[in-house]
Amino acid sequence: MTATLDVNGKAISVQADPATPLLWVLRDELGLTGTKFGCGMAQCGACTVHIDGQPVRSCVTPIEGLSGVKITTIEGLGGSHPLQQAWVKHDVPQCGYCQSGQIMSAAALIAQNKAPSDDEIDEAMSGNICRCGTYQRIRAAIKDAAAGKLDLAQAAGVAALEETAEEMAASAGATSRGAGR
Ligand code: FES
Ligand code: FES
Repeated sequence: MTATLDVNGKAISVQADPATPLLWVLRDELGLTGTKFGCGMAQCGACTVHIDGQPVRSCVTPIEGLSGVKITTIEGLGGSHPLQQAWVKHDVPQCGYCQSGQIMSAAALIAQNKAPSDDEIDEAMSGNICRCGTYQRIRAAIKDAAAGKLDLAQAAGVAALEETAEEMAASAGATSRGAGR
């Protein structure tokens, strides 16, 4: 069958059996390899993508019936999504294998909830397994991204840099005045 899919905002035609899991179309047909294969049984979350904003396990989602819905993969977040910035800030990944799925589940959560509690985060992320145990850093990154703390942190960083630059300039001025005496 020929299916037309909306992937990351682009209409794409693919030839595939209707029962083909979306995961394999994304990875093998479209080259979107950020979405990972873990278990193939909706048990690990490594293959998580969004369909109309909701997190789904692409390993068990046949492409049949996906015409007319919006599919978003980790590539569709663009690289500078607040969660991706928070992931860098908190140095979340270890081996990294589970992380695109983690970010996609987290993105769906914070789109709905700007101040998720620990319990809400745990519930939303419960289907995403991390063998490296990065759960604490994931939780911290989600809270920062949800609350927009990244921007605040960046602003604080810029302010601190400006302060330091002013101090250095003042100090250099004092030194040169001293040297001139
Ligand atoms: S690969 Fe889909 S949930 Fe594990
Ligand atoms: S970072 Fe290794 S499995 Fe999650």
